[in-house]
Amino acid sequence: MSASDSEDVATSPTHVGIIMDGNGRWARARGSNRLAGHKQGAEVARNVVRWAKELGVRQISLYAFSTENWERPKLEVRGLMSLLAILLPKTLPEMMDNEVRFRTLGDISPLPTSARKAVEQACEETANNTGIDLILCLNYGGQQEILAAVKQTLQWAQSMPDEQQALATLNPEQFRQLMWRHDIAPLDLLIRTGGEMRISNFHLWDAAYAELYFSDVYWPDFSKEDLQLALDEYASRERRYGQTSEQVKHE
Ligand code: FPP
Repeated sequence: MSASDSEDVATSPTHVGIIMDGNGRWARARGSNRLAGHKQGAEVARNVVRWAKELGVRQISLYAFSTENWERPKLEVRGLMSLLAILLPKTLPEMMDNEVRFRTLGDISPLPTSARKAVEQACEETANNTGIDLILCLNYGGQQEILAAVKQTLQWAQSMPDEQQALATLNPEQFRQLMWRHDIAPLDLLIRTGGEMRISNFHLWDAAYAELYFSDVYWPDFSKEDLQLALDEYASRERRYGQTSEQVKHE
């Protein structure tokens, strides 16, 4: 399939999630420090939103900082947070031009003030944009997200006339309504760069029926062509959601 064929947006996934892995190895291969890899990775993150919009994607989530990333060396954590505080305000005009609605997923309250303020400002200023949703996952963990929803569910059940009955009849769709950012579509395509084949606590609930795509390319080298390859592969998959191939074809 040629690039122009699959620029046909009808086959594009609505929501693409990316685990942007390989920054450290990219930097090491160049004799640079890890932060140089993250800086270049942030450039690619900026570009990938524009490419995704051009290729018909409606929502893109980028795994920028996990709940476990706090355990990295202090200098690296500080560097990532500074990148956020410096680059987000610089990127705002471009996000406005490309009609990007910037949102976050995860608990941003423990972020350093400068990073948190930059995030809040980007959310506010882009709130009415309708071109593409960029969901930056910050201090995000899929297990933590599910656990928070369980706690919400218990509170919700207590407010119901028959708590036991409410819990016994709760279904996955209702449970999802109690999760953070339940207005974001479930993940259609999960891309991980850097050659590892793990989900690493990313979108655990919402990746239930996502198509998985692993690329050996280190994130700082990821190009529009690499995204196109992932979307071409997605377009060639048959999504069955537990049904048989014959059922899906019939529908
Ligand atoms: C994983 O690569 C990458 C991260 C943990 C950070 C991702 C961050 C960016 C792409 C920059 C944009 C984000 C912000 C916060 C401005 P790794 O470091 O684990 O790479 P390695 O596996 O090669 O060591």
